[in-house]
Amino acid sequence: MQVINTVKDLRNWVRSTKGSGQSIGLVPTMGFLHEGHLSLVESAKSENGQVVISIFVNPAQFGPNEDYDRYPRDFERDSKLAEKAGVDVVFAPSAEEMYPRESQITMAAGALANVMCGKSRPGHFNGVLKVVTKLFHLVQPDTAYFGQKDAQQLAIIESLVRDFDFPLEIRRIDTVREQDGLAKSSRNVYLSETERAEAPKLYQALQVGVTAARDGKDPIPGMARFIESATSGTIDYIELLSYPDLTEEPNGQAILALAVQFQKARLIDNIIFNLK
Ligand code: PAJ
Repeated sequence: MQVINTVKDLRNWVRSTKGSGQSIGLVPTMGFLHEGHLSLVESAKSENGQVVISIFVNPAQFGPNEDYDRYPRDFERDSKLAEKAGVDVVFAPSAEEMYPRESQITMAAGALANVMCGKSRPGHFNGVLKVVTKLFHLVQPDTAYFGQKDAQQLAIIESLVRDFDFPLEIRRIDTVREQDGLAKSSRNVYLSETERAEAPKLYQALQVGVTAARDGKDPIPGMARFIESATSGTIDYIELLSYPDLTEEPNGQAILALAVQFQKARLIDNIIFNLK
């Protein structure tokens, strides 16, 4: 496995890999790898000659009061896990390497960012679009892999690729969970012991909510009561929308999604399902 830190070295590697006719799979991450990330790697391995994982905590997608500085980082551990998973290249640039100058050109996610996490994290998805666009151009993957755990991000990136004719395919990978149902996340390490014990209630709430929604009921008030009584977290949102266009009044494929703020960790989770 190679670790590449600069754009120049990456471009050289991409050129020679393309020259040898091998396909490239890309798994973009912010590191602190867990089984969720590794399941994306596994899919990428099964479909490509070469697999690149990027590890870059992207400052552009964190708001001023968010956790950029204390986002968990452990490159040694990550590179061991990546190697064991069969990754060919880890691309781990510094912030200066990715953003050597302030860009005048911005990207905006539009209406897809007016709901769910976009409402509480203004500018977040624009920062995701910025880094993902750069990664797509740098790595030139045939296929890129994203988790359903971040379903709004996935919808926005699918839209980016379609609207701007990026020559690659996006794969949507199921959410990997702990045995008790908690969605795996790098941010779970921020949970206190009590919060960790409460956190599986979020997925339970979603499951009950999906059943209610399928029965034609509004699932949100009951879910909110359950989460408020069973956890110490504060609900940021619970939303039922169409998926992937994220509009109100879904009738086909829908998403039931939530975000709950605990003391140091904001957890998100969702279920995508057919209403009818
Ligand atoms: P990060 O949170 O590190 O996640 C990297 C990828 O792993 C994303 O596609 C995410 O949806 C997926 N993922 C995270 N937890 C998962 C789980 N439990 N099951 C399955 N997949 C999971 O998302 C980002 O980084 C960044 O926004 C990024 C796209 C890298 C841009 O900076």
